[in-house]
Amino acid sequence: MNGTYLIRTYGCQMNEHDSERMAGMLEAEGYSPVDEPEEANVVVFNTCCIRENADNRLYGNLGHMKAIKDHRPEMKIVVGGCLAQKDRSAIQQRAPYVDVVLGTHNLGSLPRLLRESNEGPAFEILEQTETFPSALPARRNSVWHAWVSISIGCNNSCTFCIVPAVRGAEISRRPGEIAQEVQDLVDDGVIEVTLLGQNVNSYGRDLDGTPQFSRLLRMLDTIDGLERIRFTSPHPKDFRMDTVEAMAQCRAVCEHIHLPVQSGSDSVLRRMKRAYSRTKYLQKVDMIRAAIPDVAITTDIIVGFPGETEQEFQDTLSLVGQARYDAAYMFQYSPRPMTAAAEMGGHLPKEIVQERFGRLVALQEDISFERNLRAVGRVEEIVVEGASKRDADRLTGRTRTNKLVHFEGDGLDEGARAGVSIVAAHRHHLDGNLIGTGAKPARRSLSLPLVTTGSPAGCASCN
Ligand code: SAH
Ligand code: SF4
Ligand code: F3S
Repeated sequence: MNGTYLIRTYGCQMNEHDSERMAGMLEAEGYSPVDEPEEANVVVFNTCCIRENADNRLYGNLGHMKAIKDHRPEMKIVVGGCLAQKDRSAIQQRAPYVDVVLGTHNLGSLPRLLRESNEGPAFEILEQTETFPSALPARRNSVWHAWVSISIGCNNSCTFCIVPAVRGAEISRRPGEIAQEVQDLVDDGVIEVTLLGQNVNSYGRDLDGTPQFSRLLRMLDTIDGLERIRFTSPHPKDFRMDTVEAMAQCRAVCEHIHLPVQSGSDSVLRRMKRAYSRTKYLQKVDMIRAAIPDVAITTDIIVGFPGETEQEFQDTLSLVGQARYDAAYMFQYSPRPMTAAAEMGGHLPKEIVQERFGRLVALQEDISFERNLRAVGRVEEIVVEGASKRDADRLTGRTRTNKLVHFEGDGLDEGARAGVSIVAAHRHHLDGNLIGTGAKPARRSLSLPLVTTGSPAGCASCN
């Protein structure tokens, strides 16, 4: 028994999965998890630096940890993840009481660095990953869902994005290894996997020169007992018909696609180096909707990219009006070191960006509500995620289209599958009535002649 640990995770799903792997390594070393830093022998911050506010938050959190460490000097503070990779020696200078700093390329060194820190601070940031880090054990947060990395790093050069600088070049994992991991997970009770990569559609290009993502989907779809396959994110420029066909034909691949557009303006897309035009992007949206009935499409959008004019922003609004996303993650542009956009002219005042952001959010919320209304009257297969955060008497589940449904479902466990008839829509979730449990899920949602409307405004969870 080595003591106790706590991991605080920031950022994207890659970081969530990396944290599961750090937890797996610590537990293999004899550590056990606790919920409060006051009880932990090791506190790990797994950091993100995609936008600026992350920096201040980390140093604020570290200051709080220092106060605890002053009383318990034996407590170890570890900083890992993308911000550690970016800041390197800055953490050492600004927070010298930190015991271990490790970057994104040497996750597996955590146990060794912790041991070395008994002799003094152990800081190790590598420039790149040599091979895909497959062998690290993971302690999953969920019994029924698992993250599965299919590639790490990114070979694109979107001008706003720091990820290639902190995660390095793209490395794909061997397909046989991925299939084996998924099979092992299913044998362990997992029914849903989310495949992770910064650009899943270019998966395999570094293995044999051709993208192999659609082949991978088809291979995983044959695994008995695997009910749902999700993936994030495809890059629109690499998203092709073979993947759409695989999505439409594979039993387990869910009817949801996250296709980050970033902007609806051709000139902004060029300045962002996204390598597609508005028209090309919208053609892909049409292609997906034609092939996969009732598919949900979500996106990421950046407001206030350097030099964005009111007209260019209007192009984003009109694209959003045309694409009719089920949901969108919307961000205000944040200049990042080591990115080309940070050096561009025309950085916009905060008030302008905020005002545009408000208009975009309002438009998208109306569209999300309209899209959610389409589900009312249908029976959807959901997987139970647990108690509703707003109302402990209700449960929350997720449809294949990745929509949250709140419903009453006495005694259903996490990971249980159920049929729920959707009775009301809101901007960010649906309400449903349980109609059956454990049934073999339908491939597609069924339409019932029951129609009620929900409310986007009168709902506590929406506001
Ligand atoms: N690899 C993923 C994106 C990962 S970053 C992809 O290409 O789809 C997640 C999102 O953060 C991006 O899609 C973008 O919308 C947003 N983002 C990245 N850099 C940003 C920045 N400098 N300012 C604001 N938002 C940013
Ligand atoms: Fe960043 Fe672009 Fe790579 Fe996504 S595809 S991680 S936005 S550089
Ligand atoms: Fe993810 Fe943030 Fe790193 S979004 S890849 S944790 S910079």
